[in-house]
Amino acid sequence: MIPAEIIEEIRNKADIVKVVSEYVKIKKRGKNYLGSCPFHSEKDPSFTVSPDKQIFHCFGCQEGGNVFAFLMKIENIGFAEAVAELGTRLGIAVPQVSGSGASKTLRDKLYQIAELAAKFFEDNLKGPAGNTARTYLQHRAIEFKTVKQFRLGLAPEGWDNLFKYLVSRGADPKLIEKCGLVLAREGKNGYYDRFRNRLIFPICDPRGRVVAFGGRGLGNEEPKYLNSPDTPIYHKGSTLFGLDLSRDAIKRAGSAIMVEGNFDLVTPFQAGFTNIVASMGTALTDQQCKLLSRYCDTVILAFDADSAGGLAAERSTELFRSHGLKVKVAQLSGGKDPDEIINKAGKDAFGKMISDSLPYLEFRVRRALSRHDLKEIESRSRALKEIAKVLAAEKDEFTVREYAKLAAQALGTDPDTVQAEVKRLGQYAGAKGFKSLSRVTAKPNSKVVEAEKNLIALIARNKEGLALFQQYLTLDDFSATEARTIIELLQTAKLGQSQEPAHFLLENLPDEAARKYLSALLVRENLSQTEQFEVIFADCVKVLKDEKKRQRVADLKAEIKTAEKSQDAARASELLSLLQTEIS
Ligand code: GTP
Ligand code: MN
Repeated sequence: MIPAEIIEEIRNKADIVKVVSEYVKIKKRGKNYLGSCPFHSEKDPSFTVSPDKQIFHCFGCQEGGNVFAFLMKIENIGFAEAVAELGTRLGIAVPQVSGSGASKTLRDKLYQIAELAAKFFEDNLKGPAGNTARTYLQHRAIEFKTVKQFRLGLAPEGWDNLFKYLVSRGADPKLIEKCGLVLAREGKNGYYDRFRNRLIFPICDPRGRVVAFGGRGLGNEEPKYLNSPDTPIYHKGSTLFGLDLSRDAIKRAGSAIMVEGNFDLVTPFQAGFTNIVASMGTALTDQQCKLLSRYCDTVILAFDADSAGGLAAERSTELFRSHGLKVKVAQLSGGKDPDEIINKAGKDAFGKMISDSLPYLEFRVRRALSRHDLKEIESRSRALKEIAKVLAAEKDEFTVREYAKLAAQALGTDPDTVQAEVKRLGQYAGAKGFKSLSRVTAKPNSKVVEAEKNLIALIARNKEGLALFQQYLTLDDFSATEARTIIELLQTAKLGQSQEPAHFLLENLPDEAARKYLSALLVRENLSQTEQFEVIFADCVKVLKDEKKRQRVADLKAEIKTAEKSQDAARASELLSLLQTEIS
């Protein structure tokens, strides 16, 4: 266990606004900061960070907590790891958790193996075995500094060079296999290397830790690219190649160039386009969009110039937009992919394609037009419908009107005709939206719910609140499960003198629902005036006590009815006198 004082020191020195800003773009809004939530997809920002209280809460997905909870969630690490990570960033020494290497988690061991492998591949590329590979890189105009930066390497020829190396360094064969680096020999004992005679691209997580590898054949072998399988430290669908090196540039630019291939990332990066990530040939996923939306608000798609690239652009555009990202599409020419364009047409030509990239709607409209034979009336009608459908999803009237003009011209018709079709489709979509709105239901007993929330907020925020609670309230006064969990924990807690109940709770609450409930309360602004503190407290206590009373009265009345029905006069009169004292 890490000593409580160290945890507290780190929490006190850390600034949650600064930590969050490394992952999420947040803007000052009143007392708090607001941004797009990194934990769920949303268009309107509801992710709130409170510098005063040093907590975050998302009103969309209810995720919340303090700086440790944020790191744990965003880096997918445990509490101790989050404390250690933050300690390192702040220069506060954190004692190694329970000493020996034996306690390292599986993930830690896999990171270590992946790092060793990266080093092995790097050394091989530098050494005598790396001659062919170095020539290959020269042919593709990759400079030495780029090789170093991306830690490119070589998997040598032969069946088990890497395996032997890793074992000699003390790695467990089972874990080497778990790391995706070797495969078990069929029907025999032992393992063989997955990557042999290939140029190696290490794949890193956003923090720069090597998690997987991509290997390109040096000749015409199949497959051209071979990648690590998913492992406990690598999930293809939630990784973007290059992000570890490009994330700062992406944040600065506010936009990211997205490409498909490994060289399509490395070559433009070398040429100075450093705000770039690659999907590595797979279909874009939700997690990848979410990851990217932490760093920027615009994505510029620079997919291959072929038709598959166009289709991929269209598909991923929808996904990006659903994550609130603006999308532009570069029209590539002068080569089949960004790597080739830079080498053939030059970096200025590529730069122009990037800066001339089309806004999403224009791309869609132009694509629809190019797909149909505009000489035929029937095709023009189909193109019109397709374009109208695209435009109907757009809210901005001016934008729709301008694109309607553009489309009308190409279709040889007038803008009104296009607009009419857009409107027809839009009304249909609007009607559907309306229906779902009417399903919103009011919460029952809102007064009690609110009072409980206020009380918990007051109790969690300072020790006076806790003292007042002990004086006037009991666990049974609360009905919300989350509130009860919080009270229960507080009752058993041994809080230090300086310890604020809120952070103790956020770090120790046994269930997520209670933590989310609490962080939501803490970021709310309305309870911050201390002079009102006791008044608000008293009001809320009254609401809860009144509710308890109302319940008791209702219970007594029901019991009296039962007693009367069973003609138990003695019981009935006893209950009646209880009822009288209750309401007097
Ligand atoms: P280069 O010829 O090295 O420039 O590759 P490329 O990037 O131009 O290749 P291509 O456009 O064919 O593929 C784009 C990306 O898809 C590659 O960078 C790989 O990440 C991936 N890819 C290509 N071929 C294969 C393959 O055979 N297997 C797998 N798993 N991935 C591939
Ligand atoms: Mn290529």
